[in-house]
Amino acid sequence: MDGNGRWAKKRLLPRKAGHRAGAKAVRLLIENCVQNGVEALTLFAFSSENWNRPEAEIHALLTLFIEHLQKELPLFKKHNIKFQVIGQLAKFSSELQHAIQTTESETATHTGLVLTIAASYGGRWDICSATKKVAEQVLNQEITLDDINEQMLARQLCLNDLPEPDLFIRTSGEYRISNFLLWQLSYTELYFTETLWPDFNDDSFNEAMLWFGQRQRRFGKTAEQLAQ
Ligand code: FPP
Repeated sequence: MDGNGRWAKKRLLPRKAGHRAGAKAVRLLIENCVQNGVEALTLFAFSSENWNRPEAEIHALLTLFIEHLQKELPLFKKHNIKFQVIGQLAKFSSELQHAIQTTESETATHTGLVLTIAASYGGRWDICSATKKVAEQVLNQEITLDDINEQMLARQLCLNDLPEPDLFIRTSGEYRISNFLLWQLSYTELYFTETLWPDFNDDSFNEAMLWFGQRQRRFGKTAEQLAQ
């Protein structure tokens, strides 16, 4: 969800106004996903590297996060949305950790859209944590080196209970993955748009869906094999 800062700058507004407008675009996207039967939506709201931003901006972002956690609970209940957060949560204040736990447990039994917020998250951190868990199992002699394979490592990663992502959307004309779901995106279709995140609306969503519908997903096979 990139481009909040530039959206604000274009309007001579402070960066936090861009993040507020970005939060509105998040709500719209959630509603679009619900209406279109999307099973899982994962939003990159705060990366491991975002801790390097100015203190005031980090504070504004995390305050916005807490505000929305409380505000959006009725929406999650109305649409049967299961809410979860992935990332290094221990780095957050106890107030934010508590707000996250409350929203997660209030929506834990919901069976509709799985909405995941990646916060204080990095793909490299995710792979490192999974590797540590596997190493621990080897040290405890619960498994041997020969038991390590892609499937068992993937089970230790975040989002291990979800199918791999079909579509990745990056806004604001940046052509990078920026340490998002590095492992999980191996076969995901990557969509890039010049639209700044706060401007990402119904039309932007439909455009991305149309683009995705035209992709041929081969998963390493040839086009001829797929036609068989
Ligand atoms: C990147 O734009 C955006 C972020 C670091 C934060 C994303 C947060 C939101 C969309 C709002 C709140 C989200 C929730 C879940 C309530 P940028 O600041 O890097 O923009 P720039 O590249 O134009 O400077």
